[in-house]
Amino acid sequence: MSLLTAHTLAHATPRVASLGIATARPALLGSYCLVSRRSLSFFSASQQATAANQPRDPPPSLQLHQQRLQQAAAAAPHNAPGVQMPPELQHARVPQPIRDDFVTNGPMTTAQLEALEIYPNAHRVPTDFADKVALATVKLLRTPTDLFFKKKYVHRAVMLETVAAVPGMVGAMLRHLRSLRGLRHDGGWISHLLHEAENERMHLMTWMRVCKPSWFDRLLVFAVQGGFFNAFFLLYLCSARTAHRVVGYLEEEAIISYTAFLNEIDAGRIPNTPAPKIAIEYWNLDPTTATLRDVVLAVRADEALHRDTNHHFADRILTHNENLYQGLESADWKRVNHQLPVVNNQGKQVFDSTTKPSSAVSTGHKNTTQEALAS
Ligand SMILES: [Fe+2]
Ligand SMILES: [Fe+2]
Repeated sequence: MSLLTAHTLAHATPRVASLGIATARPALLGSYCLVSRRSLSFFSASQQATAANQPRDPPPSLQLHQQRLQQAAAAAPHNAPGVQMPPELQHARVPQPIRDDFVTNGPMTTAQLEALEIYPNAHRVPTDFADKVALATVKLLRTPTDLFFKKKYVHRAVMLETVAAVPGMVGAMLRHLRSLRGLRHDGGWISHLLHEAENERMHLMTWMRVCKPSWFDRLLVFAVQGGFFNAFFLLYLCSARTAHRVVGYLEEEAIISYTAFLNEIDAGRIPNTPAPKIAIEYWNLDPTTATLRDVVLAVRADEALHRDTNHHFADRILTHNENLYQGLESADWKRVNHQLPVVNNQGKQVFDSTTKPSSAVSTGHKNTTQEALAS
């Protein structure tokens, strides 16, 4: 049975349940690993149907998670990672392929790149067993990488990016299939995940202009991709939340590696050569001054966004709040994505809805979004 078939069967479980095993307790399901959270919530809903709308306390792990989020929100700056929705996710209808900063502030100078708020030391403290497994897995993966590459940072970056470009594509594919199968809107994730995969691939294309991988490096990439793709695919089927948490922690490690790369350039141990043309065009860098150091700063800023996005996605799944269109109340977001009128507390319109909508924002998009909000 192919993995794809297994995934399809896993999501078909609720229909099987309706034929007579709807009262079975989720814990009795032997093939738990192939049953999604949505499938289990169906069983739970069946059991609760007789509970006369009794409010349910969230499980202890979720309570702890929410408590830590609240503590982090109280202690951290307003836009600290893991507390607020990353700004790029606020373009749920028309996502940007790269960080907003590179689109709106370009051409980026070295000073602007250094000023980007990326919180390079940010670390998401695990809140439950799944988070701890995710963190331990990433730490375990880092050890052989450190031993093999040591201070060959460009070669390490090539290997890292061949791996980093996989999760976005796997997540987007599975969520795309789920959306088709369930005849439901995805909640705005797929475009972001595809853009993340594309962004990571552009990192790889950039580093390929800086170094020439040996045949052994290429062989290693081949083997690692085969193993990692299948492992991540299985993990996403079993627990999408853990999969996104793994990516969040992988990105934390990527930021550490790119910071060490920067330190090597600053120490003069890696020559600060002119930036490759592909990087200047992609990140909107200053063509007269851009160097390898600027490229590392730009890539590291991308990784910080991936870190925040994937931790945020994991939180969304944990809190059963996967619709990105919910909770996006800023006038700017509505202006960009819906062209809907926004009113203040006195009922006065504060956004000019007569602005001509862009081609990407049609009536059809509005209807789709309204369906998503209603779902
Ligand atoms: Fe990357
Ligand atoms: Fe990344």
